[in-house]
Parts: sequence; C-alpha cells; structure tokens
Amino acid sequence: MHFATIGTSKITDSFIEAANKSRKMVLSAVYSRNKEKAAAFASKHRAERWYTSLEDLAQADDVEVVYVASPNALHFEQVKLMLNSNKHVICEKPIFTTLKEYDQAFAIAENHGVFLFEAIRNIQTPVFKRLKQELHRAGKIRSSILKLIQYSSRYDAFLSGDIPNVFFFSPEFAGGALEDLGVYVLYTAVGLFGKPKAAHYYPVMLPSGVDGSGTLILEYDDFVCTLLCSKIAHSSSPSEIHGEKGTFSINSTSDIAKLQFTNAHSKKNRDHPNR
Ligand SMILES: NC(=O)c1ccc[n+]([C@@H]2O[C@H](COP(=O)([O-])OP(=O)(O)OC[C@H]3O[C@@H](n4cnc5c(N)ncnc54)[C@H](OP(=O)(O)O)[C@@H]3O)[C@@H](O)[C@H]2O)c1
Repeated sequence: MHFATIGTSKITDSFIEAANKSRKMVLSAVYSRNKEKAAAFASKHRAERWYTSLEDLAQADDVEVVYVASPNALHFEQVKLMLNSNKHVICEKPIFTTLKEYDQAFAIAENHGVFLFEAIRNIQTPVFKRLKQELHRAGKIRSSILKLIQYSSRYDAFLSGDIPNVFFFSPEFAGGALEDLGVYVLYTAVGLFGKPKAAHYYPVMLPSGVDGSGTLILEYDDFVCTLLCSKIAHSSSPSEIHGEKGTFSINSTSDIAKLQFTNAHSKKNRDHPNR
C-alpha cells in the first residue's frame, strides 16, 4: 500500500522504518508545515514527494493510507480530512480527546468504507498476549499496580518557560500525563481486566493546567487496580498483578517485553520466555 505521513519527529521515523520492514508499504509522500523540513524529511526517507498543505495531501490519488503523528489536539481535524478523502488512517495514540470525536471519526470511516486505527502498540506484543493467556495462573486477582513513570526530557524545557514547543505540557494541545503515558497503562488494564465498574482520577496539576502526573483508580468486582502515570518523576520498578495464587510482573506498560511469575506460596520466581 502507498502511504503518507503527517509529523516529522522520531516516532514518524520509527513508523516508516517499521513500514519498510513489512515490505508491504511504500512511502509516497510526507507532510510538514515547513517547506525545508518537508523536503529534508522526504529526502531522508526517499519519499517521492512532499507537501506543506494537508488539503493537497488529501487530494493525492495514489496515497491510500495516512499515518498521523502530530500533537494530540490536532489528530481529529487531520484524521477527518483524510477519511473524508477516502484514505485509510493510522493515528498515533491517544487517537482523540473526546468520545464525541471518536464516534464521529469512526462513523466517517464507515461511511467512506475505509479503516481507522489507533497506533497503540503495547497490547500487540507477544508477551502481552502470553500474559493474557496465563493470567488465570495467578488465581483470583486481588490488586494490581500498573504504571508508567518516565521523567520527560521536555519537562526541563517546560520548567525553563518554553511551553509553546512542549505540547505534552500544554492544555491547548491536549497534553498531560493521562493523555500521554496514561494511555499505555489504561490499555494494559482494560486489555487484561476489561471495563471497570468505576474510575476515579487524582491528577497532580502543573501551573500550565495539565496533569504532570496522576493516579487512576479502577474498580472491579473483586479488586481495585491502581494506575500511576507521570512525566515529572522516574521509576524503574515493574508493574504487578497480584492474585491469590501468584503475582505476575511486567517490565513496563509501554513496551511489554518481560514477564515473571512468582508463586504466592513457595515465593519461587519463574521468568517466561519473551517470545
Ligand atoms: N506510539 C508511540 O510509541 C508514540 C511515541 C511518541 C509519540 N507518540 C504520539 O505521536 C504524536 C506526536 O508526538 P511527538 O512527540 O512526535 O510530538 P512533536 O514532536 O511535538 O510533534 C510531532 C510533529 O507534529 C508537528 N507539530 C509540532 N508542533 C506543532 C504545532 N504546534 N502545530 C502543528 N504541528 C505541530 C511537527 O511536524 P512539522 O513541524 O514537520 O509540521 C512535529 O514533527 C502524539 O500523539 C504522541 O502521543 C506516540
């Protein structure tokens, strides 16, 4: 399939690399707001051409799929434009910021007979799939602490007053810990335990008006799951799921690659193969 990209940051580099490896996708065009950046990005990835107008990109007949990796608050309008032009869309997480946008965009995709995907990678890893299959070995789940606590290098720019260039810390770009890292943690929880009965979020607000970190409590019938997300502190300890028969721990919720089981009675650990 022929695809185009919106956004010229590292995540778009990674997407193009992965698409090339699949040998099923060919990069036709790239978009950037800036002409020089667009030309340089196209040349770096050997794209046939580049655009500085989203409308022109939407009109490109040979482009079948558009990958959107712009600041969160821009996703909806950009995705809508591409869907209305009969393009399939793969949009970075968090795909949209409200349920209304979500429903509207998927309705447009359906009307135009095209696919719309959120690029949420963590629940697609082999280790996550194995964890789901093996979860019953933990017995009755009694608690879980899932987290992603990653100090952002951009927090330093934010602290020095450079807010406009740091969308993660700007409410107008739908930034914040829950919108960014929280998405990985929430997908992990819902992927494993399903929809909770209730949810409560306790944010730690920054002066710019976004949550720098926060605790999300998910209530299930027999247990409570605690989700921690932060862009203003660091943790390297694993996430855990505690059952009456044992505990599973995973290295991370964004890149789920290592799984360990500890028997609650013998306290013996067992690493699971990672592939
Ligand atoms: N799945 C993952 O693992 C992963 C990892 C990182 C990020 N993400 C997601 O990918 C998206 C982009 O994140 P990022 O960290 O790459 O963001 P970013 O570097 O701040 O911005 C991405 C691109 O959007 C354009 N842009 C930046 N600021 C803009 C503005 N004010 N108005 C319009 N366009 C602007 C820029 O492209 P031009 O200047 O060339 O137009 C930039 O290259 C987010 O939704 C994020 O959650 C996903």
